[in-house]
Amino acid sequence: EGSWENCAELMDKSLPAQIIYYLITAGEVAQDLKEVVYCVGGFVRDLFLKVPNFDMDLVVEGDGQKLATELAERLGGKVRVHDRFRTAVVTLPDGTKIDVATARTEYYEYPAALPKVEKSSLKEDMYRRDFTINTLAICLNPGHFGDLIDYFGGRKDLMNGSIRILYNFSFVEDPTRILRAIRFEQRYRFTIEADTLRFARDAIERRMLGRLSYKRILAELILILNEKDPVPALERIRGTGVWKYLLPEIDVDDVSWKTIKRVPVVMGWWEEQYYSRKIKPWLIYIVVFFAQLSFEQVEAEMQRYPFDRYAKGCIMDSLGIPALAEDISRRSYLSPSDLDKMIASVTNENLIYLLLCIKDEEAWDRVARYLDLKDKIELEVNGYDLLELGLKPGPIFKEILDELYYLKLDEKIHNYEDEVNTLKQWIEEGRFTHAVRI
Ligand code: CTP
Repeated sequence: EGSWENCAELMDKSLPAQIIYYLITAGEVAQDLKEVVYCVGGFVRDLFLKVPNFDMDLVVEGDGQKLATELAERLGGKVRVHDRFRTAVVTLPDGTKIDVATARTEYYEYPAALPKVEKSSLKEDMYRRDFTINTLAICLNPGHFGDLIDYFGGRKDLMNGSIRILYNFSFVEDPTRILRAIRFEQRYRFTIEADTLRFARDAIERRMLGRLSYKRILAELILILNEKDPVPALERIRGTGVWKYLLPEIDVDDVSWKTIKRVPVVMGWWEEQYYSRKIKPWLIYIVVFFAQLSFEQVEAEMQRYPFDRYAKGCIMDSLGIPALAEDISRRSYLSPSDLDKMIASVTNENLIYLLLCIKDEEAWDRVARYLDLKDKIELEVNGYDLLELGLKPGPIFKEILDELYYLKLDEKIHNYEDEVNTLKQWIEEGRFTHAVRI
């Protein structure tokens, strides 16, 4: 059944030695428990596509939770089990996570009073998945390590770049798969196979996506917007009539698509320039989408979608960004410390939005330069130095250090010596008479 090949060599070539070691160990644990374990899903798909993906999903024919517990013990990790779904997550000391699921079980009822007999089935488990390209499994047990199990032609569809469902009512059963199909199609530049596309269009026409909660819609939207370049998927969503289920309150024709298309470009530049300034990519797109809404409308969106606190704050703050951008562009000069007073508390996502709003090249450069300095420059003196200089502690300390920081940000002073000299000068000038200790 299915086609067979061994991919131990491919694994060896493509995966870090650490990952191989974890997989081999999982196979050994399974063998000891007289079970069979496979790695499955996106991990196997991306192995064949040569896309780095080290999120291991294991399926066990047997007791997945037992295997996970034993595996965690052998690798010195921790295990968390979810009884409701018979799954478990193993977290290893290096932070690697391994998801472990138990293969769905078929019950065979024998006649008379004999007990039910369980037969776990990998095939059954694979059949319930979304697309054939996600149904590949690789056996990890010793003696069979690397054996590929391909029940539904997933290997061929991977080679042909085809997204194909496994059964006709797949999209009706789980409408999020419509969005997943579009996401995979655009990510890998695949094609949704003709019959699958027909079933998807049919499900869209029958308003299946309308049944999803805002919570599930948001989860899928975030996955789409976090793709390296979500623009093609967004265009496909627009073209297939799916938009009105994703962000019904946003008028798709009113979105600044020019700005949206610049997001991945500016984000790429940002990640290179400001490596330590982490961002949530999806949030930037949301902020740009919401730009067409009024304050009240944005507040209403906050009620519908379960954004977390950070995202909510960010979205609300974004309403003030266009005005801020205009203000910054209008000024003929703003020093880094002037900018610090204006935008020090703006989130990284909104800073990118700010940059997207600034059309004036000089203003853009000023903001970029400010961020650069802000990441580089730190005061070397602290409260102890102020005490040493005879100042009495109090709220004035923060004021003094802030002012000193602004000087350094504006590159008027450069090192510890400059800082101390400036302080001495300020004291001499009698600037802090009320703060000087006697
Ligand atoms: N799956 C499914 N239907 C869904 C979501 C997931 O059948 N609505 C299955 C898919 O077969 C998938 C597996 O569950 O391979 C794991 O899901 P997930 O981790 O979301 O997908 P990946 O394939 O790993 O995709 P990604 O690369 O985006 O993480």
